[in-house]
Amino acid sequence: MKLKVVVCFALVLALVDLPVLARVSAPKTPQHSQSNDRRVDQLLSQMTIEEKVGQLNQLFYFTQFMKPEMIEPGIREGKIGSLLFVTDPAIINRFQKVAVENSRLKIPLLFGFDVIHGFRTVFPVPLAMASSWDPALVEQAQGIAAKEARAVGVRWTFAPMVDIARDPRWGRIVEGAGEDPFLGARIAAAHVRGFQGGDPSSPGRLLACMKHFAGYGAGTGGRDYDSAYIADAELYNVYLPPFKAAVDAGVGSVMSAYMNLNDVPATGNAFLLRDVLRKEWGFKGFVVSDADSVGNLVTHGFAEDKADAAYRALTAGVDMEMSLPGNQIANAYATSLTKLVQEGRVSKGQLDEAVRRVLEAKFKLRLFENPYVDESQVATIHNNPEHRRLARVAAQRSMVLLRNEGNVLPLVKDDPKVSSLAVIGPLADSKRDIRGSWSFVDDVKSAVTVLEGIRAKVGSAVKVEYAPGVDIRRAYPSIFDLITGPRPAAWSEAQKQAEFEKALTLARSSDVVIMALGEHEEMSGEAASQSTIDLPGRQLELLKAIAALGKPVVLVLINGRPLEISWAASNIPAILEAWHPGSEGGNAVTDVLYGDATPGGKLPVTWPRSTAQIPIYYAHNITQEPETKKNFTSRYWDIPSSPLYPFGHGLSYTTFSFSNLRVSKPEVRVGESTEVLVDVENTGRRAGEEVAQVYIHQRYGSASRPVRELKGFERVALAPGAKRTVRFTLSKAELTYWSGAAKKWVQEPAVFDLWVGTDSRAPLTTTLRVVGR
Ligand code: BGC
Repeated sequence: MKLKVVVCFALVLALVDLPVLARVSAPKTPQHSQSNDRRVDQLLSQMTIEEKVGQLNQLFYFTQFMKPEMIEPGIREGKIGSLLFVTDPAIINRFQKVAVENSRLKIPLLFGFDVIHGFRTVFPVPLAMASSWDPALVEQAQGIAAKEARAVGVRWTFAPMVDIARDPRWGRIVEGAGEDPFLGARIAAAHVRGFQGGDPSSPGRLLACMKHFAGYGAGTGGRDYDSAYIADAELYNVYLPPFKAAVDAGVGSVMSAYMNLNDVPATGNAFLLRDVLRKEWGFKGFVVSDADSVGNLVTHGFAEDKADAAYRALTAGVDMEMSLPGNQIANAYATSLTKLVQEGRVSKGQLDEAVRRVLEAKFKLRLFENPYVDESQVATIHNNPEHRRLARVAAQRSMVLLRNEGNVLPLVKDDPKVSSLAVIGPLADSKRDIRGSWSFVDDVKSAVTVLEGIRAKVGSAVKVEYAPGVDIRRAYPSIFDLITGPRPAAWSEAQKQAEFEKALTLARSSDVVIMALGEHEEMSGEAASQSTIDLPGRQLELLKAIAALGKPVVLVLINGRPLEISWAASNIPAILEAWHPGSEGGNAVTDVLYGDATPGGKLPVTWPRSTAQIPIYYAHNITQEPETKKNFTSRYWDIPSSPLYPFGHGLSYTTFSFSNLRVSKPEVRVGESTEVLVDVENTGRRAGEEVAQVYIHQRYGSASRPVRELKGFERVALAPGAKRTVRFTLSKAELTYWSGAAKKWVQEPAVFDLWVGTDSRAPLTTTLRVVGR
C-alpha cells in the first residue's frame, strides 16, 4: 500500500468538492430469479456513464485519518464502487447502507483489504507458509483468515501475491512463495482455495485477487517498483505459472503490477492483461490496478497525461482503478473516463465491458442479497481458540532447521545441567516483529514472543532472562509507520554500549543462550528492499561476541528474507529459521526448540552465502563450464559457486533415507504419463516429516533446460523405522515447457534425468526416455 502522500490526506479531502450528480428516476430492483447476466444487463441499461465510472472507482478509507462524512456523499452519488482498508464492521455497514439505501441504483459496495497472512489471528508470513511445503495447511490457514475478515464485512482480499522472487534484496520476497514456479503454483492454488472455498459468496469466504500481474519480483537490482526485463521463455516458464495456477483454481480477480515489464508498464500492458490473461487463459473475473498504478502510467513516461493513462489502462484491460491514498478524487478513471466516453475515444462497449465484470463479481458474491454484516458475530468468530491453535501448528510446520551440528537441538526440558537461560537479541521479545508485515488489525498485545514462549515452556524451575543487546532500525522510515506507528527513539551511543555489555554479562552467567536475530517486520515487505542481505545493525558482532564466551548457543532467525549468516553457519551449531511466525510464533519456536514439534519445513528459496552471489537460484541453465565438471572450481574466483543452503533444504530431529527409485514406465510416448516411485524411510529414533522432492532435467531439445527443475513433492509423516513408497506422476504438464526457439509450449522427445530426495541436490537418480508418437 503506497502511502506516499497520506500525510496531507485529510487536507486534500477537505478541499475537494464532489460535484452532485443529476437526479434520475429510480430503477426497478433486479429480479432475484434472473441469471446474473440478465441482472447485469438490466442494471447496465439503467446506469449513466458517471455511475458506470463510479463502479470502477476504488478508494482507500483509513479510520485513522478520515471521517465517514468525507466519503459518504460520493457513495450516495454512485461515484464509488469499492473501498479498501475499512475493517470496522459498523463503518462497513454504515457505508453499505448509504450505497444500498440512499444511492440511486442501490448497488452495494465491495469492501477489500489486504488479508495476507491472517486477520485477527496472524499466521506465518507467506514465505514461511510456503516453507511448509504443505498446500493443505496453506488452504486451511487462509480459510481461517477469510472467516475472520469476512466477520467484519470484508469480502475481497488482495492476496495471494504469487510473484516469483529470485532476489532476496527485494523486500516483497516475504509476501510470496519464493523462487520456484512449480512450488509457487501449488501454493498459489492453495491460497485461492483457502480464501474462496468452492464459492467466494458462501459464509466465511472471500474473493481472492492474485497479484501482481506480472513480473514484479524481477525488478532490477531487487529494488522495489523497478523495471523488469523478462524474456518470453522466462516469463512463461518461471514467472507466469503461479498466476496460471491461481486462474485454474478459480481466482476471482487480478491486480496489475506497478512496474514496467519490458518497457511497457504492467497496468497498461495489453499483452499481459488481454492476450495472456483473457485470450490464452480464459480468465473471466475482473482486474484491479495497484494503488495509483493507472496514474503512474504518466510517471513512467508512458501515458501523456491522466486522461491518456485512463484510456491506456482501460483499453489494456484494467477494469477497476485503485486510488492512491490522498489523491483519490483525482483518480485517472474518476476524472477522465466520462469525458473519454463522451468524446468517443473509449467506446461505450469498452466501458460496459469493465463495469460488467465488476457488477458480475458483486452479483456472484451475493452482495445484492446480503449487503450487510452481522456485527454481533464478530467477537465469537475472532475469539475462536481453534484459530490460535492452527496458527501455532502452521508456525511449527513452517520453520526450517538450517543446522543442527552435534544434535544440539532439541533442548531438554528438565535438563539438570541447565538452570539458567539467556534469551538475547532485538527480535526475542518483540510482539510487533513476531507477526511480520501486513499485520494491521490483529491484537498485537496477544502475540507471543520467543521470550514468552520459552518462559511458558520451561516453567519456574529455570531462570530465564532477557537482553536485547542491540537496536536495529531502517536508515529510511517505512511507509507503514503511518499506520503502525514509529519505533521508540533510537538508543544513545552510551546506551548502545551499555546494552551490548548487558547482553554479554547475561550470557556469561547463563547455562544456555538462545539468540533471536533478524529483521523488524518493516524491514521486508513493500518498499523494504535492502542493498545487502546482511544482518541489520550490530547483530553479527553481538553473535560473535556471545559465541566467544563458549556457552551453547542456539540461533533463531526472525526475518522475511534469506540473510547473510555464513559466519553463523560454521560457528553456531544450531540455527532455526522461524521467519515471522505470527501470533503464536513464540510458542511455536519453543515447541520446536524443545522437540514438542519436529521441524520439517524446507527452504522455498536458495540461500546465498552473501549478497555477492545474488541472483542465485537452483534452476539455472548449465554453462559450458558445468559445476559437475571434474576440474570445475568456481564461477567467481573469489567465492564458492554453491549457495550456503540449497533450495529445498531443511533438517529434522530424525533422519530419512531414500531408496529404490524407479519409474513405472521408463520409456513413454509424447503425451503419456509415467510414475516415479521411491521408498522413504525414517532411519532415526523420533517421528518426523520429510518432504520428498522430484527434480527433472531434459538433456536436449529445441532450447536448453535448467540443470534441475522441481516437478513434484510430498510431505510425508513417518514413525521411527517406518518406510513408505511415495509416488509422483510425471505427465505431459510436467514434461512440457515454453521453448524460446519454437515460441510455444512444447513437449519434446528426449532423455530426462530424474532425481528424488531431500533437497535440490538430491543424488538418487534415474532416467526417463520420451519418444515421439
Ligand atoms: C501494494 C498491493 C496492495 C495495495 C493495497 C499496494 O501498494 O502493492 O500489494 O494490495 O497496496 O494495500
